[in-house]
Amino acid sequence: MTGKPVDKLSSAEAEKELDRLAREIAEHDRRYYAEDRPAISDAEYDALRRRNAAIEERFPLLVRPDSPSHRIGAKASAKFAKVVHARPMLSLDNAFSDEDVAEFLGRVRRFLGMKDDEEIAIMAEPKIDGLSASLRYEKGLLVQGATRGDGQEGEDITANLRTISDIPLRLKASRSAVLPEILEVRGEVYMTHKAFDALNKRQEKDGKPVYANPRNSAAGSVRQLDPSITAGRTLNFFAYAWGEISELPAKTQSGMLEKLGDYGFMVNPLVKRCETLEQVLKFYRDIETRRARLGYDIDGVVYKVDRLDLQERLGFVSRSPRWATAHKFPAEQAETVLEDIEIQVGRTGKLAPVARLKPVTVGGVVVRNATLHNEDEIARLDARIGDTVVIQRAGDVIPQIVRVIPEKRPRGARPYKFPDKCPICGSHAVREVDEKTGKADVDRRCTGGLICDAQTVERLKYFVARDGFDIEGLGGTMIELFHDKGLLKEPADIFALTEKPEKVSKVLAAHRAQLSEERRAAEGKDPVKTKAKKEDREDKVVENLMAAIERRRTIGLDRLINALGIRHVGETTARLIARHYRTIDAFLDGMKAENAREELESLEGIGGTVAEAICDFFGEKHNVKALDRLLAWLDVTAMAAPAKSSPVSGKTVVFTGTLEKMTRQEAKARAESLGAKVAGSVSAKTDIVVAGPGAGSKLKDAQKHNVQVLDEDAWLKLIGG
Ligand code: IVH
Repeated sequence: MTGKPVDKLSSAEAEKELDRLAREIAEHDRRYYAEDRPAISDAEYDALRRRNAAIEERFPLLVRPDSPSHRIGAKASAKFAKVVHARPMLSLDNAFSDEDVAEFLGRVRRFLGMKDDEEIAIMAEPKIDGLSASLRYEKGLLVQGATRGDGQEGEDITANLRTISDIPLRLKASRSAVLPEILEVRGEVYMTHKAFDALNKRQEKDGKPVYANPRNSAAGSVRQLDPSITAGRTLNFFAYAWGEISELPAKTQSGMLEKLGDYGFMVNPLVKRCETLEQVLKFYRDIETRRARLGYDIDGVVYKVDRLDLQERLGFVSRSPRWATAHKFPAEQAETVLEDIEIQVGRTGKLAPVARLKPVTVGGVVVRNATLHNEDEIARLDARIGDTVVIQRAGDVIPQIVRVIPEKRPRGARPYKFPDKCPICGSHAVREVDEKTGKADVDRRCTGGLICDAQTVERLKYFVARDGFDIEGLGGTMIELFHDKGLLKEPADIFALTEKPEKVSKVLAAHRAQLSEERRAAEGKDPVKTKAKKEDREDKVVENLMAAIERRRTIGLDRLINALGIRHVGETTARLIARHYRTIDAFLDGMKAENAREELESLEGIGGTVAEAICDFFGEKHNVKALDRLLAWLDVTAMAAPAKSSPVSGKTVVFTGTLEKMTRQEAKARAESLGAKVAGSVSAKTDIVVAGPGAGSKLKDAQKHNVQVLDEDAWLKLIGG
């Protein structure tokens, strides 16, 4: 924010500027809330508010009744703008053992049709334990920086990333490094151990909470709404990948890393090009022994097929590339005491046993809870309350109990009896038996369905969560509170809240009053006799909440499907379904159709169990009715058509005979990535049969059904080489 330094302002100038700022900020709030169309970045907005606050501090008598500083919780606490990644930011498959790594290389070779002993160059890189970011450069200038988010859409944290000195604001060009017009660089923001320790010392001194580990503190630091806070923290960045790029300056991963270095990025100095499994594993062990002395956290090693043309051929499975994997370091372990076992009931009714532990630090994080999975697992471990147990924690994974130490078992420790009733609604909790196999499910589920409050609340929480409706300000506690007070039972009720702001406001005020009473009681003070005062702050909270709900009345089909909380349907499956049906009407029609299950199963990535779960969901009248009530509030946007349409999209293709230029697996993956459906047998519905030498009955079937037959070369020509 430019303008005269605050300490140089005259009183008249200050008055004028406060007037201008009040109007300006109000206008930005209106654009943001009412139109969802902010005109300035969060950073610029924050600067306006800071300027306003600074002037008010110097001229307290000039504070206006309509000052933006009275409006706590307005945009300043709002979040970052969303950024849709030009290319999705993917995740990596994991390998935990040498065998897993050998299997990864085997898979790569098989896919590419290479011999078992044929050499394939692999780039091995330390796996930095920070948070990934994408930096977009246009004509060499940094124009945008974003978090990974869900991989498709992240948050705009440009202002914060600009403060990191490892991130060039302008790329270096040289004779050996011609800059691509557009370059999205991906890498990891991390904090060194030294910076982490210094930051925590400072936090402690200022009476602020300390961070659990360098990764959390790096994440917390880049997600500050005020970039000056980020600037005060020492962060670093390693570049290791790219997103959209107008022109590839190299043909290999190793070559690309070299170019990224030329452009001015830090590239991890330990990366190594390997040619055999032995070299790859040696790299892993070397790094593992050096791990503690690196000065920053890594949680494994990443292997990437070096040649980019091979990467391109290998492509992706769901959200991870076939050409890379992460070889994780073993999880860290610690000993502690199992103090209790509690049962949590999830949205699908699953009774999940949670171990309450004596707090213990594992890999720099204090662990209080661990998952016990299910009753069989408790029996297998023979875990009893009071037992000393070994727990382990790997990266983001929820801590687990690995084993019990029987020698340390106290006398009288009794085996745990798993409940056969839901602890919330009292309904029977059963282990369903699979009709086909006759085997009981590992999970015990509450049969209470709609009458079970735990399931209702968990479903609602899932509905508003980040991958679903992502309603800002409506978190778990508020859902529980509104459910308790009878305001929420099903998703449609969330939108109905916008018609009763008074009621919402009352519930919140009463809740706040109760909390402060409890606090006073805990501090041993007398209760305050006055009635709960409705504060301005409450109004603002309610106003923001109403606006946040209102904004989500327009929602993408994929998010809607995910939010429904159908068993086995997560974000990826929801997206597959949405891409297939495109519009809500087509989707609903599809679910009513007789062949609903078949159609779902025909989608790449959706199997029998998932298709059945979806059909079961739509087979329940109450689900359909609840969805109808919800849809009355919504404007569901259609899924965009795939960016490129290919000559084979929507066609059904059958491969037969020997393919000579690629393996069957690669041919299938390629065809599917171009929008074709690959079938195993020829019927009247088949569009193309690709026949190599040795083709037999399928070729005959093709002739019988009058289906177009292509040889491998003609097929390759059709799909563009
Ligand atoms: S490559 C398509 N290289 O690991 C693959 N990732 O589990 C893109 N990470 O989200 C990632 N060091 O945050 C790659 N040398 C490295 C990495 C690395 C750390 C992180 C990154 C990614 C996650 C995947």
